[in-house]
Amino acid sequence: MTKLIALLAGDGIGPEVTGEARRVLDALALDLAFEEAEVGGAAYRAHGHPLPPETVALAQRADAVLFGAVGDPAFDALDRALRPEQAILGLRKALSTFANLRPARGFPGLEEASTLKPEIARAIDLVIVRELNGDVYFGDKGRRTTDAGLREGHDLMRYDEAEVRRIAHVGFRTARTRSGRLCSVDKANVLETSQLWRDVVIEVAADYADVELTHMYVDNAAMQLVRNPAAFDTIVTGNLFGDILSDQASMCVGSIGMLPSASLDADGKGLYEPIHGSAPDIAGQGKANPCAAILSAAMMLRHSLGEAAAADRIEAAVATAIRGGMRTPDLGGTATTRAMGDAVLAAL
Ligand code: NAI
Ligand code: MG
Repeated sequence: MTKLIALLAGDGIGPEVTGEARRVLDALALDLAFEEAEVGGAAYRAHGHPLPPETVALAQRADAVLFGAVGDPAFDALDRALRPEQAILGLRKALSTFANLRPARGFPGLEEASTLKPEIARAIDLVIVRELNGDVYFGDKGRRTTDAGLREGHDLMRYDEAEVRRIAHVGFRTARTRSGRLCSVDKANVLETSQLWRDVVIEVAADYADVELTHMYVDNAAMQLVRNPAAFDTIVTGNLFGDILSDQASMCVGSIGMLPSASLDADGKGLYEPIHGSAPDIAGQGKANPCAAILSAAMMLRHSLGEAAAADRIEAAVATAIRGGMRTPDLGGTATTRAMGDAVLAAL
């Protein structure tokens, strides 16, 4: 049966990089149909809102969403609710995507792009499973003036056990498909939320006797990620810690232009996007590295469309293009977005 992909290219380099991902998907000749809709600044220009209802409806109707990036400096002065970036937050909410998967894998030949020593960068092969719908980002927040006349801000960190349980299951299942090692990252030595997190993760572990579970405090995890990232396989953590650690882990690999992500709901439906933003500084110049978007398309095939073999082929083709020396400017070369796409297609 034909699978419907919502293609939401967005702003800046979004259309350029998703264009290459689309070419790669087309080359595989799978039974896919694409429908495009505006999102972000492009949608604001056309409809006066960064996330129009038609775009939400398409995303909900589709089997998967392939997303570029949103963000446009032309709208920086707008009210926060109308800024392009609200579109991605609104989509995550509309789709109930609570599990964010961010793999980080060293590419042979690309070690020089990393700030780590080559032998350390090369050995990275981990995935961070980050909870996306809870934590301090969604707890009660506010500002007030204290009795002493000082301005005060607060953001409540909270999780309930059901929220922890469902992300823990994703963590264990992910670890099971890899090396079978799961590290749960928290701050249980000081945070009550983290103590609950740890208790629930241990309870869920009873269902996964084949997975080896360890726990680590987030400050130590940050340290180990740059000291010896190869020690990690699958990491499961909350929204705030995951936000920070996943950016850190991805940069250990090298360029932001190489790293994909998936945001999944309870049924494995998902939104797939490169981890980078709209990169207005290089938009429209053919300089963007499309690999992150292409690898996001591969994750989409694997996680939402039941096409794991096709996903493997795309990932191998990107690795071949990199090994063959293809380098966009972010990787220290001069290749265009299109040339990188061509190299991946040739390797396919
Ligand atoms: P960014 O990721 O867009 O760019 C950071 C730096 O990395 C820039 O120098 C850019 O040229 C470079 N870069 C990013 N992707 C690249 C690629 N594929 N190839 C080569 N170089 C690449 O982050 P920045 O500059 O902080 O944000 C720009 C806009 O994007 C803002 O409006 C921001 O809010 C938005 N943004 C949107 C995201 C999303 O749609 N999920 C995520 C992050 C930022
Ligand atoms: Mg971030």
